Amino acid sequence: MPRIVVDAVHKDFKLRHTHSIKETFVAAVKRKPLTTDFHALDGVSFEIGEGESVALLGFNGSGKSTMLKLISGVLTPDQGRVLTRGRVAGLIEVGAGFHPDLSGRENIYLNAAILGMTKKETDDRYEQIVEFSEIEQFIDTEVKHYSSGMFLRLAFSVAIHTEVDILLIDEILSVGDEPFQKKCLARIRQLHDQGKTLVVVSHDLDMVASLCERGILLRGGKIAFDGASDEAVGKMRA
Ligand SMILES: Nc1ncnc2c1ncn2[C@@H]1O[C@H](COP(=O)(O)OP(=O)(O)OP(=O)(O)O)[C@@H](O)[C@H]1O
Ligand SMILES: [Mg+2]
Repeated sequence: MPRIVVDAVHKDFKLRHTHSIKETFVAAVKRKPLTTDFHALDGVSFEIGEGESVALLGFNGSGKSTMLKLISGVLTPDQGRVLTRGRVAGLIEVGAGFHPDLSGRENIYLNAAILGMTKKETDDRYEQIVEFSEIEQFIDTEVKHYSSGMFLRLAFSVAIHTEVDILLIDEILSVGDEPFQKKCLARIRQLHDQGKTLVVVSHDLDMVASLCERGILLRGGKIAFDGASDEAVGKMRA
């Protein structure tokens, strides 16, 4: 039984061509299009099985983040379907899922609740979450004053201390310092060994090739390659 099914998915975004009311008026009179559709994902299909670790690869703008947002449910496809089985945790954008006016402590509870944990479960794991994040000193500070790395530390700690089946990671590790990145990678490998399903986006190609067995290469919103991760990286560098 697959954990993730992506079936003939299309996602379009509108590109605007006018900046002012005057330009809009002139374009309308000349019957020029005010917007054009941009195909960020153009008929993408793949399945990811239980316990697989997959690197989503591609150059800037190839549709990787869009794909992860569709899997996490933040975006919905215009055509096709995206199905997931089990609890999904997405570490997709620095600071996403946090409320700026709440403290680190309050955001841990908020995030854990979003990931389906009860208050009791969160109480039991709270100490471990804070310990892993190493930001104890700032835990009662409002997160709007946090640095990018502090956001990552908190978000990653909460995600790995919940019972997730699918973990999505988009480039966010790169804002962590080297010791914390190493700690995260060790933890990700551990989750993989426990049979969790991983989808990782990173421009650190050597890192993802060693972390993931499979690589899916996106080019212009289409799948250019789907196979062994080192081969996918080779195709990207070619
Ligand atoms: N909300 C949006 N509105 C308009 N265009 C968007 C939107 N989100 C993404 N796009 C466009 O879709 C394309 C794919 O974007 P996406 O963020 O998925 O790329 P990416 O592969 O993650 O790139 P990067 O390596 O730079 O992170 C880009 O051209 C981007 O401009
Ligand atoms: Mg991206």
